[in-house]
Amino acid sequence: MTAFLCIVLGYVLGSAPWGLVIARTFCGIDPRNDGSRNTGATNVARLCGFRWGVLTLACDLGKGALPVALALWLGLSPLPVTCVALACVLGHVFSCFMGFRGGKAVATSIGVFLPLAFFPLLFSCAACVLVIWRSGFVSLGSLTLVTVLPFALLAATQYAWVPLSLCIWALVVWKHKENIARLRAGTEKSWLKSRQK
Ligand code: G3P
Repeated sequence: MTAFLCIVLGYVLGSAPWGLVIARTFCGIDPRNDGSRNTGATNVARLCGFRWGVLTLACDLGKGALPVALALWLGLSPLPVTCVALACVLGHVFSCFMGFRGGKAVATSIGVFLPLAFFPLLFSCAACVLVIWRSGFVSLGSLTLVTVLPFALLAATQYAWVPLSLCIWALVVWKHKENIARLRAGTEKSWLKSRQK
């Protein structure tokens, strides 16, 4: 019963559309209608400015980290904790507050791994930042992050979270299919400045 309640809490918190709320409240824009049409931190930063993107990132991280930290604190074993983490990420992607549509799962995925595997996550985030810095593409950095994470978990012998990282990898790659097509075609817009129609 505890695990079930944590999973429900994870899904409901994960569904919280922070990017939409922040963009609408502070700059009067619906990010679903402009830029990449994503409600994530990158598009909010692109449309509203860096600080609102950072706030969106923090909120999306938090909504992933909180239910997972609670599940760990309650002493749930890896399988139910994995289900709680997946519920958060699936809530973000299929938000019950946005007609079961949502974001690209990156910030919330980082959030769920914060309490689970801090150092493998830190390593993956460093790889992500390096790729964004070198290439200018946030999407490529995100894809790098989720690709490096399973290997970082294996290297750190944190095997319990490898299946979760692989599910997240599949979800993030699927949500970035348009970005991948643009990257392959050479039409992905660099960094945060330019608007993508
Ligand atoms: O985390 C989302 C990022 O990887 C891509 O965002 O808005 O450029 O599609 P966007």
